[in-house]
Amino acid sequence: MLFSLVLVSLMGLVPGNNSDGRAGGGFLLGAAEIDKQAIASILNHHGARNFIAGPIGKDSLDLILQAGARAPSANNRQPWHFTVVQTQSLAQRMVPNIVEGNLLIVISTSGDGKINGREILDCALATESMYLAAQALGLGSRIYTGPMNRINSQLKADLGLPSGYSAVALVRVGQVEQAVDGVSAASSRKPLETIVNYK
Ligand SMILES: Cc1cc2nc3c(=O)[nH]c(=O)nc-3n(C[C@H](O)[C@H](O)[C@H](O)COP(=O)(O)O)c2cc1C
Repeated sequence: MLFSLVLVSLMGLVPGNNSDGRAGGGFLLGAAEIDKQAIASILNHHGARNFIAGPIGKDSLDLILQAGARAPSANNRQPWHFTVVQTQSLAQRMVPNIVEGNLLIVISTSGDGKINGREILDCALATESMYLAAQALGLGSRIYTGPMNRINSQLKADLGLPSGYSAVALVRVGQVEQAVDGVSAASSRKPLETIVNYK
């Protein structure tokens, strides 16, 4: 509660209804606070569960990919490759409950089973950037690592991964019901006092 009050007063954000009238329990932006949208995106995201059919525009996809390419990496090595899967039958082999219009972005890196911690972290940052960018564009997104064993043992060639690369994560992007409130849909998180210490 104290954290919420401090954040609200620091950011000029107010709890209440979304601008389109949807009920929301989180921090919402006043009209003069558009420069605070980045922090709101970070605080309000959630992994979509209920995708609905519908296409993703090329402009949105390009922005999502640019967000991934813009991620920071150790020594700026940018060790990632992004594979956009738009073919439904192929996507279904990775995410069985795929919905028409969903696309998957598979993030891979070189190392072929010997991927080091630095490459994983770099790819994780690109993954997060694409996941958040999709939601900032009004789309649903969800990160998956469950399909990685299958991808790396069976699907590398079908996906056209660069030689010697292994997949580390994928981001699913699709249309979602706009009436779903992202704040209440998100799973709860550990309280800060249980995960932070100060020295
Ligand atoms: C590294 C990583 C791997 C994940 N893998 C899967 C997955 O294989 N399948 C799945 O349904 N969700 C997966 N998720 C989504 C998480 O379960 C979800 O982000 C987490 O439970 C938080 O819930 P929220 O998105 O509702 O806030 C993954 C998330 C991360 C960050």
